[in-house]
Amino acid sequence: WNRRPLSVWRYRELLPVRGEPVTLQEGGTPLYHLKRLGEEMGLAELYAKHEGMNPTGSFKDRGMTVGVSMALELGKTSVACASTGNTSASLAAYAAKGGIPAVVLLPAGKVAVGKVAQALMHGGRVISVRGNFDRALEMVHELCISHGLYLLNSVNPFRLEGQKTIGFEVIDQLHGVVPDRMVLPVGNAGNISAVHKGLQELIALGFIDRLPMMTGIQAAGSAPVVNAIEQNLPELIPEANPETVATAIRIGAPVNAEKALTAIRQTGGIAASVTDDEILMMQRDLARKEGIGVEPASAASVAGVRKLVESGIIDRDERIVCVVTGHLLKDPETVVKQCEPPIEIDADLQSLLSALHLHS
Ligand code: F0G
Repeated sequence: WNRRPLSVWRYRELLPVRGEPVTLQEGGTPLYHLKRLGEEMGLAELYAKHEGMNPTGSFKDRGMTVGVSMALELGKTSVACASTGNTSASLAAYAAKGGIPAVVLLPAGKVAVGKVAQALMHGGRVISVRGNFDRALEMVHELCISHGLYLLNSVNPFRLEGQKTIGFEVIDQLHGVVPDRMVLPVGNAGNISAVHKGLQELIALGFIDRLPMMTGIQAAGSAPVVNAIEQNLPELIPEANPETVATAIRIGAPVNAEKALTAIRQTGGIAASVTDDEILMMQRDLARKEGIGVEPASAASVAGVRKLVESGIIDRDERIVCVVTGHLLKDPETVVKQCEPPIEIDADLQSLLSALHLHS
């Protein structure tokens, strides 16, 4: 397989799809060395896997290329999901490519505008539910059972099969070296579970001989997985009213919690929370010091590293890969709220020079 370009389908033997996949050329995303931010934190080997560089701007595309391909192989004629935004954008696009209708349920008023725009433009039936994501997921689950739509949330195992390729690509991009730690933002806890599963498969196949410490980062107002790890609970206690600026991970009852807890515990990893301020500060730092534009939820992973280094939990000689999950342009409103607006001037050179504090 080594001659195939880096992409989800480079690893097709390890994926369930047998026929031609429904693909928009997902995966093959850049792994950036965060030199400047790493230096600031005292880390020589800090990397970011930029999943915002996928076709619809998030890692969900890896899951959807597999999920929608399987839906068609199984003879399904319509697909559905609940979403904090990215899953809906991705599902709408892949359903369009596959030629079947998609129904998406979104928590009303809590989805970043870029994601709603995508779901609408790709022709999804977009339903805004007056309730949070967890409730929307229960509702779409019932709808799928009663009316035969094919559910493509991360409860669907084929989604996670696609997403596990993040781990494969990281190993490929590090030329076979296993990072000491992989750090992911955790919402519904599917992605961290998927990456863990993929890396376990590479061990079983003899490609690698150890696992990275799987590390999950949540927003402080939406941190049931962190609570379960910190209090060493056998299972998670849902958070009834999750709240965070990182709306992508505003989830109180993650469906893949059990798998995520196993991934973290079995690899000697950890879960930690970061405040909204820490998230937004890291979003700006990634943008301004590294040139990497991500949405708030994605910045959480790197913000978590900064916090864990400062508190002495992460060793400075670790090789660390953060997964940054979605693109900056997903959530322009949060950007506009943080940044000074453009300086508007009259259309003459003198006004330009004075706006830039330059002498004529
Ligand atoms: N980062 C982003 C940008 C996301 O959109 C999500 C999840 C996550 C991280 C967390 O991943 O759920 O696998 O733990 N977004 C889902 C959605 C819930 O509906 O788009 P997870």
